Amino acid sequence: MNAKRVVVFTGAGISTESGIPDFRSPGGIWERFDPEDFTYQRLMKSPESRKKWWRVFQERGLTTEAEPNPAHLAIAELDRLGKLDCVITQNIDSLHQKAGLPDDKVFELHGNMRWVVCLNCGKRYPVEQIKARLDEGEEIPDCEACHGILKPNMVLFGEMLPEPVLKEATHRSERADLFIVIGSTLIVYPAAYMPVYALDAGAKLVIVNLSPTPVDNQATVLIRAKAGEAMPKVIQRVKEKVRAV
Ligand code: APR
Repeated sequence: MNAKRVVVFTGAGISTESGIPDFRSPGGIWERFDPEDFTYQRLMKSPESRKKWWRVFQERGLTTEAEPNPAHLAIAELDRLGKLDCVITQNIDSLHQKAGLPDDKVFELHGNMRWVVCLNCGKRYPVEQIKARLDEGEEIPDCEACHGILKPNMVLFGEMLPEPVLKEATHRSERADLFIVIGSTLIVYPAAYMPVYALDAGAKLVIVNLSPTPVDNQATVLIRAKAGEAMPKVIQRVKEKVRAV
């Protein structure tokens, strides 16, 4: 493991062992909810569609009490070994930060669930505050300052990804010499371009995923195993190599 710039790219599959279902595995989110209900357009459409939107969101678990699992902790260990350039994640659960990674090492391509923002005046609310209002029976929480429409700080289908995050994640992918994909079907773009940028720039690709991805045939190492089991073993190997140097 003489890689100098290791970039780890994660999807919902890294959080399933923390109790958060992914989207496309059997029993995943899109088997139980219609993605159409989560689009930006649906949220903006009408008070009625917003009421349904917030109810589904509340059922889905606005705030997650989930804890990082051994895969998240292994990545934080990689950082402590001085081997991690950054994590690029599609997840909005903030489990990489909960595992100990500093904010400036986590690029959240699809935003996060820590804040709810007003689309009119930009005021931000901690998600716990909005969850409490929903739990108390409010059906369509609006902005307390201007009564504008509120939206969780995540990227909805139909919305652009945050430009500065996408730009920096692209740059890091193009500079990586080792790109590790964990728990993603790699079928949602532009996030799924990241491993392609890394490969095009000559990086080695490692994939830890329970099901196939479109770039499996370009992986130097392909691990069909649970991330929570595989990643601690990967880090153990790295530690032995680092000690051997
Ligand atoms: N270990 C390894 N792989 C796993 C595990 C696990 N414990 N659990 C699930 N997986 C794999 C699944 O086999 C699947 O290939 O993780 C992948 C999860 O894929 P998706 O559910 O499609 O999640 P993701 O790739 O993150 O989806 C991308 O789609 O709906 C949008 O915005 C949403 O960010 C999400 C994006």
